[in-house]
Amino acid sequence: MPGYDEAYAAWAANPEAYWRAAARLIDWDVPPTRIFDAAAGPYGRWFPDARLNTCANALDRHVAAGRGAQPALIWDSPMTGRCETFTYAALLQRVAKLAGALAARGVTAGDRVVLYMPMIPEAVVGMLACARLGAVHSVVFGGFAAAELAARIADAEPKLILSASCGLEPGRVVAYKPLLDAAITLSPHKPAGVIVAQREQAPATLIPGQDEDWAAVEAAGTPHPCVPVAATDPLYVLYTSGTTGKPKGVVRDNGGHAVALRQSMDTLYGVGPGDVMFTASDVGWVVGHSYIVYAPLLAGATSILFEGKPVGTPDAGTFWRVCQQHQVKVMFTAPTAIRAIKRDDPEGKLLKTHDLSRLEALFLAGERCDPPTAEWSAGLLGKPVIDHWWQTETGWPITGNFRGYGLFEPRFGSGGKPSPGYQVHALDEAGKPLPRGQSGTLAVKLPLPPGCLPTLWQADDRFRESYTTTFPGWYNTSDAGVVDTEGYVSVMSRTDDIINVAGHRLSTGAMEEVLAGHPDVAECAVIGIADTVKGQVPLGLVVLKSGVTKPDATICQELVSLVRERIGPVAAFKDAMVVARLPKTRSGKILRATLRKIADGESYTVPPTIDDASILGEVEAALRAR
Ligand code: COA
Ligand code: AMP
Repeated sequence: MPGYDEAYAAWAANPEAYWRAAARLIDWDVPPTRIFDAAAGPYGRWFPDARLNTCANALDRHVAAGRGAQPALIWDSPMTGRCETFTYAALLQRVAKLAGALAARGVTAGDRVVLYMPMIPEAVVGMLACARLGAVHSVVFGGFAAAELAARIADAEPKLILSASCGLEPGRVVAYKPLLDAAITLSPHKPAGVIVAQREQAPATLIPGQDEDWAAVEAAGTPHPCVPVAATDPLYVLYTSGTTGKPKGVVRDNGGHAVALRQSMDTLYGVGPGDVMFTASDVGWVVGHSYIVYAPLLAGATSILFEGKPVGTPDAGTFWRVCQQHQVKVMFTAPTAIRAIKRDDPEGKLLKTHDLSRLEALFLAGERCDPPTAEWSAGLLGKPVIDHWWQTETGWPITGNFRGYGLFEPRFGSGGKPSPGYQVHALDEAGKPLPRGQSGTLAVKLPLPPGCLPTLWQADDRFRESYTTTFPGWYNTSDAGVVDTEGYVSVMSRTDDIINVAGHRLSTGAMEEVLAGHPDVAECAVIGIADTVKGQVPLGLVVLKSGVTKPDATICQELVSLVRERIGPVAAFKDAMVVARLPKTRSGKILRATLRKIADGESYTVPPTIDDASILGEVEAALRAR
């Protein structure tokens, strides 16, 4: 393989040749003759005349090549004390049977199927069964409440829903079925049926005529062959937080996704056939889609599906136990998980009791990685710790450090250098590229590479408004940061009202919509304040309507419950306070960035546009008195 500079230069000189070569790693029913169609979609489409099936590339081709007996998936669940291995042949059989069962229930190419699933093998089987049929899956993270699930069902309009009777969180069983039933009631769109994986921790009561038992459905399924689809057909829709309460349906196509993910396993992660990859995330997030499910399987590797937490299941050594037991070569998690481990095991005593000789690198993403966290883990592991930056929208890393191209010197605090495929610049407010070393909005020159979102689900205009209108010719990442003179990219914060809580992407705007719905609240602001483990946590500031006599503490408690009920526990909204007034600009815009600085105890300048500067002192005193 070439070095990083050479590979990046080769891509820059001839992007189509670079992606044509990458496409050779994929099996096509109709190979691409055209690589990119600049005239299609909001900014162009990749591999416009090709056809393939993603499931065939993830499973069937490995079995056909004689790798059927190799483990494809290892379910390691400290939550249940179970560990199960599925070979490629076994996983293929389960997926083909479920696909047959879905087809028998009317699911065909292009139909949507929503999955609301915990981290159990059925989640992977369900996703791949959809891919096998050319159906479009939409996985909803289990920590979202019924209303959020309902919004996704309403938008995706699924023919069927796949779910499980419960999820397992430390100390509590989360019954999914009542949440799902409530969501179906709330949604104007109703699915034709629901298939429920029954778990012994809390079996669900099935509704006759609507619900079916997964095990029985799958057992009776007739194995279904792969259905070739256009490379530009959607593989999945994954909803992510936007700036309003309405989530954005990020579309992933089949062809670009397969090519980019397969390529990234060689270039970034250095994981190939037979290697073991452990991505400690959740199938409800993009990291789970890409690096628990699709990329490891596309590469013929073994993927770990881990149902547990970095700490408390049973302790801060659980990740290292998994690495040792399954001979993990590459691990991937969020910095927050490492911070939680560091908090519980600051000297790495548990880490040192495990044999990690097979582990070659730890990748981190999902939020900014503070240098002390990277240094701590690199020091203890004695292996490369690689921070890499990406988004649900891109589906694979925008920047990183490239094991396949020979690692360059890491810089803690930076997410590395751009992946070939991405031309990244910091822009000023007018959209002009800034000199290296100056901070601005990070943007990627269009077109985006294969694997990135071609559009939002049935919302081309929202795609343009969200990503390409502010800076014509560029994809606006809504991340602020800097590209230094040597090309290292550091991502510092979001430019919008998205916050990252424990690596989970959340919209403060959506939380504000919930708070504003409380009958006693006149106005409100939700800001993300610094947290030593979770990176950020939300804080709600509310101004009450005049004449409200209810105690502030009661109202705050009601607000916390409301957010948990409407958005879900994952919002981690545990803190609200009543203030007399909120600082605003003369045009009435709440000064959230200044509020955040005050709450974090940072120095701030009084914005020149402020309407009444005395409010800042008032809020500061209230926050200090908290
Ligand atoms: N289903 C139901 N509830 C869930 C859930 C799920 N799948 N995932 C999280 N929750 C709940 C938690 O139980 C918690 O509930 P609580 O308020 O009753 O305690 C709440 O949502 C907040 O969860 P979280 O923010 O994850 O905090 P935590 O204290 O449970 O755990 C960490 C802290 C750091 C251990 C945990 O956040 C973690 O492992 N983070 C890594 C995140 C990650 O992998 N991100 C993917 C990007 S790579
Ligand atoms: P998500 O769409 O949930 O993957 O969240 C994407 C957002 O997480 C990005 O826009 C960034 O704000 C943040 N993020 C992800 N990875 C990194 C990283 N390595 N460094 C800094 N921020 C990151």
